[in-house]
Amino acid sequence: MTDSTAKTIDTLLSEHRTFTPPEEFVAQANVSDPSIYENADADWQGWWASWAEQLQWDQKWDTVLNWNPPYAEWFGGGKLNASVQCLDRHVAAGNGDRVAFYFEGEPGDARALTYSEVLRDVCRIANGLKSLGVEKGDRVAIYMPMVPELAMTLLACSRIGAIFSVVFAGFSPTSLKDRIQDQEAKLVICADACWRRGKILDLKKVVNEAVENCPSVENVVVWRRGGDCVSNAPSSSRDVEWGEVFVKQADECAPVSMDAEDPLFILYTSGTTGKPKGILHTTGGYMTGALATTKLVFDMKPEKDVYWCTADIGWITGHTYIVFGPMANGATQVIYEGAPDFPQQDRFWALIEKYKVSLFYTAPTAIRAFMKWGDEHPAKHDLSSLRLLGSVGEPINPEAWVWYLHHIGGGKCPIVDTWWQTETGSIMITPLPGITTTVPGSATTPFPGVEAKLINEDGSEVVGAGGGYLALTRPWPSMLRGLWRDNKRYEETYWSRFPGKYFAGDGAKRDENDFLWVLGRVDDVMNVSGHRLSTMEIESSLVAHEAVAEAAVVGVAHELKGQAPIGFVILRGGYEASPELEQELRAFVGKEIGGLARPDRITFTPELPKTRSGKIMRRLLRDVAEGKEIGDVTTLADPTVLKGLQAEFVKQG
Ligand code: WT7
Repeated sequence: MTDSTAKTIDTLLSEHRTFTPPEEFVAQANVSDPSIYENADADWQGWWASWAEQLQWDQKWDTVLNWNPPYAEWFGGGKLNASVQCLDRHVAAGNGDRVAFYFEGEPGDARALTYSEVLRDVCRIANGLKSLGVEKGDRVAIYMPMVPELAMTLLACSRIGAIFSVVFAGFSPTSLKDRIQDQEAKLVICADACWRRGKILDLKKVVNEAVENCPSVENVVVWRRGGDCVSNAPSSSRDVEWGEVFVKQADECAPVSMDAEDPLFILYTSGTTGKPKGILHTTGGYMTGALATTKLVFDMKPEKDVYWCTADIGWITGHTYIVFGPMANGATQVIYEGAPDFPQQDRFWALIEKYKVSLFYTAPTAIRAFMKWGDEHPAKHDLSSLRLLGSVGEPINPEAWVWYLHHIGGGKCPIVDTWWQTETGSIMITPLPGITTTVPGSATTPFPGVEAKLINEDGSEVVGAGGGYLALTRPWPSMLRGLWRDNKRYEETYWSRFPGKYFAGDGAKRDENDFLWVLGRVDDVMNVSGHRLSTMEIESSLVAHEAVAEAAVVGVAHELKGQAPIGFVILRGGYEASPELEQELRAFVGKEIGGLARPDRITFTPELPKTRSGKIMRRLLRDVAEGKEIGDVTTLADPTVLKGLQAEFVKQG
């Protein structure tokens, strides 16, 4: 489309060592005055309170912040309902006819839903929840594909004060079961099926298997994807049809006035042990962070923008930047059900052209796939509606960054590389698109009001340029309030490494211009295609197989996925290493946890590199798998193990 499509990435990189927001962008930007940073810093509690004031409260708060490290209470005494922020107030302001969702199913079925329609449907679902006996504080587990009904289910739960917990619909029955059991969910809401790359995925079958041993579950509500997409899986007496209980209901449902600190949702994420952590978010602070960051980071103008975040609502990105942030702002957005390469590798660009998307938020792993598929796919489409691009989930490599700017953003769209976590609830480190001159690969600086520091091993602060552990050193409204029923783990995981500071688990460096570069996890957590996986969780799954005596798993650099899980396995006596067994073990993990966690390969070995105290040195395994020079082996009980391991890795590859 543009004159210079033939430029190589190297040329682009040399041309875009920095990117200054174009004048036209700055002229219309929500923020273009850099003093916003100083002002927010000078009174950060007041800054956040000024955002909270933009929500609709039933009762105003008494205190902005009550900080009892590591426990925060934001807007204590205040009362509000999250769904009201996202729906009622837009309708009341006369924007009921604005489109909330342009939905496009993978087969091409499309529908648009206005804010009034969404409010009506959310009320019906909320009334349906009540008819099933769901009350304030009850937990509702949700296992659905990317359809508007998923977003509406979250809003309906929040309307009656039920705590929702979405489980990404790619997780296995075991993973779903574990999450349902941990929170003791009373209700499960699922879809029968969804479309993925032209095939029907049977979600109901997964749910049936998962709820077999979940005595807390009283009912399973099944939403029908429709058409031919209907599961034949056997149903149980607990099953109820969405069309029966969630549709034939009154169109109005009074929202429950929640305390600012009442739980809104639990979202499970992987930690460094085998057991996922139930991250707990509450109402007032979370909504404040979601509202503020969406408006400023994406420069959102709800009356004219069309926004599209390609994440799944099953992850935090979808919670905050599909449901609560954009909807609190009254945005019009695209929701797409399926794969980016179906029916062709230009599906995303076709959607951007069709809906005239202006703000687009995706992940580096997707961008790398687009690069590989070829420049011709975006070039076929008119992408001139785009005015801002976002990236999230993992560090974005500069090559992908400049490709994104040039081939998707026409060389003119600011890119916001946003660092945050399930725990932080909203974006923490990011450019502000009308202010920041960006550098490919750097998430730049903390959002106004947020304080991030780099910490040395000994707990001292890194001053000036240098590297260290990334820590957040002030509480912020959308921070997690704890782990579901596990305060001890909350304190230990996030607050004990550097007392009084939130330890994010990432390493980062600061350059001479005070820009931050998030480098990656420093704990036993890997990032596969922007999704967090625990080495320990995959290892526990491997050792659950009868053939496996011991297992070690590492995240290894991968061209498209960022990192890929690679396993090393010691077999039990009586089992023979074979390519068939490798396939079986890979499939086993996929079935136990979910496809994402399936190791790319598994190497059989008679021994693993261990310290004298018996700790597996995963760092060395990573060196082996990445074909690197092996690091320091002096702490190994038996340094010769590594030679054998390297030989096996090459031989079995
Ligand atoms: C981890 C959080 C936040 C939503 C998606 C993932 C990595 C996330 C970036 C970025 C470098 C990033 C970090 C972080 N990460 N965004 N822009 N640059 N790294 O949420 O599953 O909670 O994972 O993702 O390692 O700790 P999550």
